[in-house]
Amino acid sequence: MTSVTVIDHPLVQHKLTIMRKKETSTAGFRRLLREISTLLCYEVTRDLELTMETIETPMQQIQAPVLEGKKLVFASILRAGNGLLEGMLELVPSARVSHVGVYRDHETLEAVEYYFKAPENMAERLVIVVDPMLATGNSSIAAIDKLKERGAVNLRFLCLLAAPEGIANFHAVHPDVPIFTASIDSHLNEKGYIMPGLGDAGDRMYGTK
Ligand code: URA
Repeated sequence: MTSVTVIDHPLVQHKLTIMRKKETSTAGFRRLLREISTLLCYEVTRDLELTMETIETPMQQIQAPVLEGKKLVFASILRAGNGLLEGMLELVPSARVSHVGVYRDHETLEAVEYYFKAPENMAERLVIVVDPMLATGNSSIAAIDKLKERGAVNLRFLCLLAAPEGIANFHAVHPDVPIFTASIDSHLNEKGYIMPGLGDAGDRMYGTK
């Protein structure tokens, strides 16, 4: 069973409420997204493994904890995933970044990859896949398919809002990938939008229609 963690930190919930408001401007939405993504990143990395390293403070030599293993990968699902990267990279500046672009072919209904870049040694890295909205789950499922095809085995999925339908679809295909979200909303509407949601995340962060 996919584990789903709702990040209920008061600062996350407060910022999310402002982001949901229809009167929040593009600039405000973008600023809040950067802030909230830093907080979400803090939570999604809470249990990273540490190892001890010998260092010297100005006073003495000690054993001190540092992150273990290969650098993390933040994998952004284009285009809205990019909105989460800035805040996350502020917290983990050494993280590697992958970009995954997929669209659904209207005739075959298959997910078609139009862009893919990822660092080497994906199998040895924790890959945190980011997209603000887990709606139907189709694009996140397809993006994770592509990341797994390139060797990723240790993945987490981070979003702002998730719909129950999306969580169920995601779970059916990738039960090994834990989901972290700031909210599980009520349902999807007939056009595939999350209700009550916040509208189209990409349009709201980039000021497009
Ligand atoms: N993508 C969005 O940006 N918003 C939704 O509500 C659903 C998918």
